[in-house]
Amino acid sequence: MRIDLKSLENLWMPFTSNRDFKSKPRLIERAEGVYLYTTDGHQIIDASSGLFCCAAGHSRPEIAEAVQRQLSKLAYTAPFQMGHELSFELARRVAELSPEGLDRVFFVNSGSEAIDTSIKIALAYHYVRGEGQRQRLVSRERAYHGVNLGGTALSGMVKNRQAFGVGMPAVAHLRHTWLPENRFVRGQPERGAELADDLERIVSNYGADSIAACFVEPIAGSTGCLVPPVGYLERLREICDENGILLVFDEVICGFGRTGEPFASQSFSVRPDMMTLAKALTNAAQPMGAIAVGRKVYDTIVNAAPERTIELFHGYTYSGHPAACAAGIATMDIYKNENLFERGRRLSDYFLDRIFSLQDCGSVTDIRGYGMLAGIDLAPSGPAGDAGITTQKKLFWEGLHVKSTGDVLIVAPPLISTKEHVDEIHYKLKKVLTIVWSKIKVDGYLTYNVYFQCIITGLLQSIRI
Ligand SMILES: Cc1ncc(COP(=O)(O)O)c(C=O)c1O
Repeated sequence: MRIDLKSLENLWMPFTSNRDFKSKPRLIERAEGVYLYTTDGHQIIDASSGLFCCAAGHSRPEIAEAVQRQLSKLAYTAPFQMGHELSFELARRVAELSPEGLDRVFFVNSGSEAIDTSIKIALAYHYVRGEGQRQRLVSRERAYHGVNLGGTALSGMVKNRQAFGVGMPAVAHLRHTWLPENRFVRGQPERGAELADDLERIVSNYGADSIAACFVEPIAGSTGCLVPPVGYLERLREICDENGILLVFDEVICGFGRTGEPFASQSFSVRPDMMTLAKALTNAAQPMGAIAVGRKVYDTIVNAAPERTIELFHGYTYSGHPAACAAGIATMDIYKNENLFERGRRLSDYFLDRIFSLQDCGSVTDIRGYGMLAGIDLAPSGPAGDAGITTQKKLFWEGLHVKSTGDVLIVAPPLISTKEHVDEIHYKLKKVLTIVWSKIKVDGYLTYNVYFQCIITGLLQSIRI
């Protein structure tokens, strides 16, 4: 199909170089399983599950049918002072998967709303306990917590904050956990737990009684899969407990099987006071987020309010939207019936083997990975982010979608992927990373050699497929 480029002008695309995109658009028409199909018929393997959200693969008919059924029966009802059954059922299903005690579930419409809501819950918790002065928040460099005002302040990415002024919550940032000596470490690095002691320094700097909560992604996802060093999350938990600070895990990417367990909290055996969720909650078929709240926090807030009064003055018109709940329940059914978290856990070794074998591609400067999530750092090829987006675009035209942030590629295939899918992802990554390298470096023989290996791998793969 020929696209009229003028017809693209009205849409201001999010997190996109609008002018560049509109000069050569990458338009997807449909998707199925692990593949996307462009408007001109190219098949693209999805190595990032969309934006880490389509864990069960694309366009699942079970979810579409559940949403359609719900829309014809009850498309909407107000979520304040009344309810509908599906929202209670989905809350039960999420609670069943959550770590023990995190079984009170508040619904929102995105990861960003989940984060801002969890900030408000943390503030309200301290307020009703008579510690309303605890208003400072702690997060971490290289964190991504969405784009609403609270999440923007928490995020540790300069570009995401730079243009938006200072009218945001007061946040102190822990150092990020990337260390040069941990380059190419697979799984949890042995070194770096002491970085958690930054929280103690923040406590001594500002006073424990000024700090409401500490927010971390168990694995920092969007900035390139920074896996927590052994003992790091445990140490954060300890310092929070010693100082009355709530610990919030942002599991928007890690949640629902990405780390081999329902939640990263279970993979790393550290229980937070709240978890923020979104993305794979509905397999991205409907916008939805949630906060799984621990009993201590829920009971404190709810019991502080007089009978028959609203306990938390917070909520959205679309909190627990019927169509989103239908999608969420159908998604939970798929996870259970297809044993998808276990499937992801079994594929993880093979996936990480293949991804870590890319470390010899000359443009690659580091690789990290855990479960079905990996980050590949690329050597800069110009201003920050240029190597990332250039490589992402090249990969797209080679038939692979992968999310880039800065100069990092973040690989997170759907949990329904097979070894053959992983091979296809590996082959395309290797081909493009080798070509990018050949432009940067001039070791003709080696480049040619690696490129030759790619062709052989491709041939073998096409025979197998
Ligand atoms: C860890 C984390 N938190 C929050 C968000 C924000 O989610 P959303 O884009 O649904 O608002 C994201 C999005 O990628 C995320 O990765």
